[in-house]
Amino acid sequence: MKITDDVFKNALSHFPSGVTVITYSHLGKHSGLTVSSFSSLSLHPPLILFCLQKNITSHDPIRSAGKFVVNILARGQDSISNQFASGKTDKHALIQELKCKTGELDIPILPGILSHIECEVEQFVDGGDHSIVIGKVISAGAEDSLRPLLYYRRDYYSI
Ligand SMILES: Cc1cc2nc3c(=O)[nH]c(=O)nc-3n(C[C@H](O)[C@H](O)[C@H](O)COP(=O)(O)O)c2cc1C
Repeated sequence: MKITDDVFKNALSHFPSGVTVITYSHLGKHSGLTVSSFSSLSLHPPLILFCLQKNITSHDPIRSAGKFVVNILARGQDSISNQFASGKTDKHALIQELKCKTGELDIPILPGILSHIECEVEQFVDGGDHSIVIGKVISAGAEDSLRPLLYYRRDYYSI
């Protein structure tokens, strides 16, 4: 089938993924956005990546902040995912309401998540209308008793 935006997006939506929220702090304000394009990249050195739309609020602040946390969401955190996926949410207020802890990089870590990965920005690589953000992992932790939140064809699932 000839490639159109709809054909491309529909084909991609058939790839199931986990759901993360990337949190960051910029100019004294906390923020975050929902991201499913997260992937591991390298073990030595420890690197991860995600793809970041160039035309959203979070793009330039993440680059200037130079650090972020990947929060891997757990089953039942659909509402957290939806709130961080909206440009209309006051993310700073939401993070304060959620009573987050902070880790080594002093960036909010969301409560109830499956695992977190604290990163310094290693590189922003051009990727069309997205940047590929490569993060060097500084610290990480996981909660083994929880199950993941999954995203597939624009809906949430678990295993
Ligand atoms: C399940 C899901 C996955 C998403 N994955 C990405 C992603 O990988 N990269 C991205 O830039 N935006 C992604 N988004 C969209 C952003 O979360 C959304 O544009 C958000 O409003 C950006 O926040 P901001 O406006 O505060 O910058 C995703 C949204 C959802 C619901």
